[in-house]
Amino acid sequence: MGSTDLPQIRLLSERDLPGCVALSAEAGWNQTADDWTLFMRRGTVLGVPDSGGHPVASGAILPYPNGFAWISMVLVTAPRRRERIGTGILETCCAEIAGKNFVAMLDATPAGERVYRPLGFEPVLNLTRWQGEGGDSISAPAGTRAMSAADIATVTEIDATAFGAERRFLLESLHNRAPQLAHVTEPKITGFVLARPGRIATQIGPVVASDEEEAALLLRAALDAVRGPVFLDVADRWAELRGNLQARGFTVQRPFLRMGLKRSAPFGDPSRLFVVAGPEFG
Ligand SMILES: CC(C)(COP(=O)(O)OP(=O)(O)OC[C@H]1O[C@@H](n2cnc3c(N)ncnc32)[C@H](O)[C@@H]1OP(=O)(O)O)[C@@H](O)C(=O)NCCC(=O)NCCS
Repeated sequence: MGSTDLPQIRLLSERDLPGCVALSAEAGWNQTADDWTLFMRRGTVLGVPDSGGHPVASGAILPYPNGFAWISMVLVTAPRRRERIGTGILETCCAEIAGKNFVAMLDATPAGERVYRPLGFEPVLNLTRWQGEGGDSISAPAGTRAMSAADIATVTEIDATAFGAERRFLLESLHNRAPQLAHVTEPKITGFVLARPGRIATQIGPVVASDEEEAALLLRAALDAVRGPVFLDVADRWAELRGNLQARGFTVQRPFLRMGLKRSAPFGDPSRLFVVAGPEFG
């Protein structure tokens, strides 16, 4: 079937939130209504409706102000897979992004990678999702302190250097959702950690720092403070973080592959990016 024969792709709005949350929950994903709402308010969510108007497939575009946009939430309900709906949604997202002269970026699951490679996506960065349990303690380790709203401007600058674009709206949203888990280094802010509640687990990320030792300290601050299950997506190059996670009993859940459309060079500075915000945000 060619993409012109595809079921109708339409814009999804906040009225479609329950259907969107059901799609991500069906896939066993961790996103909440807050995440979907952010995509709808700051970006574009596309979907394919069934005869009753409920989305059977989705894809989100989140533009960042440095010439690239993140594609995420590419989901097709299980009974409708292998009808090239996923490919059609991806092609529509890519056309939209190319129309703005932006580069399309995404973090692919192994299933997604099979769809994205033929479209011209190239590997940029290997990531691993780790899962485990939080430490449920209240004291921040020496060298860190709780992040305050007044720190967000500095945190935004540090994040932009590592990620490659300014995304204050996201950092503010994460800080508002779990302020007790957000930490910065002290006395000088050279690194930070943010986290958010998810459907299944608290997701920690991003962690941005000047070196791996500092990243490990920030990660400890957040991990100690979390109660219950935790997910985090760590860049594979960081052996010390990996060792620390294993020592805490964390295990590998799945790989993700950061990919760019006809681009293999990362944006930003991966030597300062330790834990990403998550595949939905980059
Ligand atoms: C990944 C996903 C979106 C693909 O959607 P889809 O509509 O089934 O994909 P398409 O029909 O467009 O597949 C295009 C091609 O990708 C490959 N492909 C897709 N799914 C595959 C699978 N399960 N096994 C092997 N190849 C597969 C095939 O080459 C396929 O072409 P073909 O059917 O003509 O052989 C869907 O499987 C899904 O929702 N998975 C769970 C969520 C997820 O992982 N999303 C990706 C996030 S990055």
